[in-house]
Amino acid sequence: MITFDGVTKRYPDGTVAVDGLDLEIQAGRITVLVGPSGCGKTTTLRMINRMVDATDGTVAVDGKDVRDVDPPALRRGIGYVIQQAGLFPHRTIVDNIATVPYLLGWDKKKARAEAHALMARVGLDPGLAKRFPAQLSGGQQQRVGVARALAADPPIMLMDEPFSAVDPIVRAGLQDEFLRLQDEVEKTIVFVTHDIDEAVKLGHRIAVFQVGGRLAQYTTPDELLSAPADDFVSDFLGGDRGIRRLRFSQELDAEQAAETSRSRGDALGQDAAGPAVADR
Ligand SMILES: Nc1ncnc2c1ncn2[C@@H]1O[C@H](COP(=O)(O)OP(=O)(O)OP(=O)(O)O)[C@@H](O)[C@H]1O
Ligand SMILES: [Mg+2]
Repeated sequence: MITFDGVTKRYPDGTVAVDGLDLEIQAGRITVLVGPSGCGKTTTLRMINRMVDATDGTVAVDGKDVRDVDPPALRRGIGYVIQQAGLFPHRTIVDNIATVPYLLGWDKKKARAEAHALMARVGLDPGLAKRFPAQLSGGQQQRVGVARALAADPPIMLMDEPFSAVDPIVRAGLQDEFLRLQDEVEKTIVFVTHDIDEAVKLGHRIAVFQVGGRLAQYTTPDELLSAPADDFVSDFLGGDRGIRRLRFSQELDAEQAAETSRSRGDALGQDAAGPAVADR
């Protein structure tokens, strides 16, 4: 759905932020870009919605070169969540979330109704709707940022370190809710982080960048942990890679167990419905 084909970004001062990037980002999945500071993650993300234009190569969304799409039209289909949520301080929560629908000229009532629905979806208490961002906790602000990006239902979401400003416990909660939400909405998500644990937890695929904007490895979390491509990647994964891999497989096992018991539960549910119907 999103492809980078030989993409390079050289800023006017000569800095090469992204160097010859080839990447295929799958639709309906979470792809994580991870790597040390300055390795070109944000630049890569911004070349998708043309906040930054590539110097060389082609970025395409749904097979269409983004250079051939008018930036405002392109961005209508792409939600963007930035670090610290980036909310408008003088607008209420509900108006922050309705930003894009307002811009699209939706009826105010409809836009606000949609914003309220999104608040529920991301786990925000409806009582917060009329507050201002400064009156919310960090974690609540991050949820507003996610809700705002989801308004107008874009098929693609770009998320640049959206959970980095909160403490580890709040962050873990936000990650869990985010995964649950993604199960429902199945957006194409490109998620930037410099935290390898977050990458492994959230990513369907992980792209590891190294400084100089080169792609070091692009693969599934399991493969990344079991077969790092080179010394840079294994150093980046760190010494506790074995533990991380163990934890990852345990999570997978737990997920599979839950899946199995869910389908078994469904089957039981149907059986149980049988006699109940017969009794009537
Ligand atoms: N407008 C700009 N002009 C010149 N150089 C820039 C510009 N924006 C970014 N850079 C440089 O490009 C490189 C990649 O920056 P980028 O913001 O993409 O990195 P990043 O991986 O997102 O880093 P971080 O994890 O710190 O957010 C860095 O060396 C940065 O200094
Ligand atoms: Mg960045």
